[in-house]
Amino acid sequence: MCGIVGYIGDREAADFLMDGLSKLEYRGYDSAGIAVYHNGAIAIRKKAGRLVNLSNEVKAHPIVGTAGIGHTRWATHGGPSDVNAHPHTDEKGNFAIVHNGIIENYMEIKEHLLAKGYHFKSETDTEVVAHLCADMYDGDFTSTVRRVLAKLQGSYSLVFMCKFEPDKIICSKKDNPLIVGLGNGENYIASDIPAILNYTRKTYIMNDGEIAIVQKDKVWVIDFDGRPISKKIFEVNWDAEAAEKGGFEHFMLKEIYEQPKVIKDTMSCRIASDGEQIQFEELNWTPEDVKSIGKIMIVACGTAYHAGLLAKYFIEKLARIPVEVDIASEYRYRDPLTDSKTLCIVISQSGETIDTLAALKEAKRRGARSLAITNVVGSSVSREADQVVYTWAGPEIAVASTKAYTTQLVALLLLALYMGRLNGHLTADREAQVIRDLQRVPDQCRNIFDHAGDIKELAAKIKEKEDIFFIGRSMDYGLAMEGALKLKEISYIHAEAYAGGELKHGTLALIISGVPVIALATQQDVEEKMISNIKEVKARDAYVIGVVQEGDTEVRKTIDSVITIPRSDNFVLPIMTVIPLQLLAYYTAVVRGNDVDKPRNLAKSVTVE
Ligand code: F6R
Repeated sequence: MCGIVGYIGDREAADFLMDGLSKLEYRGYDSAGIAVYHNGAIAIRKKAGRLVNLSNEVKAHPIVGTAGIGHTRWATHGGPSDVNAHPHTDEKGNFAIVHNGIIENYMEIKEHLLAKGYHFKSETDTEVVAHLCADMYDGDFTSTVRRVLAKLQGSYSLVFMCKFEPDKIICSKKDNPLIVGLGNGENYIASDIPAILNYTRKTYIMNDGEIAIVQKDKVWVIDFDGRPISKKIFEVNWDAEAAEKGGFEHFMLKEIYEQPKVIKDTMSCRIASDGEQIQFEELNWTPEDVKSIGKIMIVACGTAYHAGLLAKYFIEKLARIPVEVDIASEYRYRDPLTDSKTLCIVISQSGETIDTLAALKEAKRRGARSLAITNVVGSSVSREADQVVYTWAGPEIAVASTKAYTTQLVALLLLALYMGRLNGHLTADREAQVIRDLQRVPDQCRNIFDHAGDIKELAAKIKEKEDIFFIGRSMDYGLAMEGALKLKEISYIHAEAYAGGELKHGTLALIISGVPVIALATQQDVEEKMISNIKEVKARDAYVIGVVQEGDTEVRKTIDSVITIPRSDNFVLPIMTVIPLQLLAYYTAVVRGNDVDKPRNLAKSVTVE
């Protein structure tokens, strides 16, 4: 999510660091900072806001030195501020750290260090790593880093500087990208290739469990036990723009493919270590807190609203609390029945959508408790709501929302499980069973990506069509709405979603020979009914693309083309079912020659009514 850079050589480190960060700003843009070794100390400059703020600071107060590290932040733990910006240091400023990822056991480490008398300045998880270095320092930078890394759980790419050994920068990674760029008498570190492309194309791509000790004329890589690892040089041949997209043609595709990782990031910090229970440290609700909720009002716009539609099924079925879902711009003006027994959940990727923010204020004015599900730490919605659950999707650049939606579904499903246990409607066995299936999702998503080629072929078949219909029942109906929206907004083909049982009440009149109907039929309890609805459109000679679970034999008999989803629990399936719909929209837009990442007339964050 964040961007990381490092430099060691003979040139001014700050020049490379600032240039590298400018190439990575798309990875995070709420604050940035650099640390440079200068005259026996580590000097730091950091600033909240866009990179330009840091750039002005560095111009006003330059730091001279030839070794340094830098960071552009996408806030996770702790809102965007100067003090939460990286690099972080220990109290004496002997170590400086930049970090991308989430240290899951940071609270435990922090408590241990607080008990030993350490003082913390920021609210970040990263700061514990700097203090831990100070606490565990054994006179040798490399062995200290090795022992510190062994204490950390979670995901990270981490870069370390130590005042006592300014001739080296050390870095390591787990589940986050990290590369070392190899120069002549100078070497570089970066979370992503674009940062170093103007300097070198020779790299070491770091793997989990490896530690690189980077000096100006030498890079050596070891494992956590200190054994040397021999690395192959990877020559980068991407052009600069492709590199920002990680080699993908568009940000949207990159973001679709990031889903296994961000789904994992969003759920893993909320699953207890025994894998049996959901915990929300940020909510810390009691059974009474949940039992006192008379009604849940979910309010959001667009794709986030569609996540809310699914949440109604999750919460009503698992926690048996009545849920209403409303479009934020409608909620505000309909004199809604909202009072102190209402929990208002607002969902917003950006946290800045004006209609959602206004609806949240309206719900609070009427006495409701409020909870925001958002992707942006410190956003307006997160500040306005009583409590916040963050989705850890990282920056979403493409206008069409993909990974933010799936992480919203994950957060909402976890919330439903949490509430269901607390109010006694959900058995421990059922909770553990859904968690087990959820944990398989990241791997199962990769299975869906293996069939991306088939979806591309389907896109070529529907590319000239003027109208496309999506149908589904139960949770698949909510997904049908999201599939239709995605297709409309980037392919510009007219698409409509209908509940399977609703067609015959009017829309069937539009089904003529060759009209594509995307029939979502993953939900077992309504499968037979869905088959009848598919037969209704087949009888009018529609071209039916069915989306079914692996192993299905019945729906297949009635459709023309099939997309399969790995088998899973009914509640978990939607998180995967949407992915082929995103891919279908994507490939259709590409084959029609549209500007996929910036569709016409649309903006990423809608801050007008
Ligand atoms: C569609 C899309 C929009 C947003 C909507 C709400 O792909 O991205 O429909 O979902 O504008 O935005 P947020 O979630 O930022 O409040």
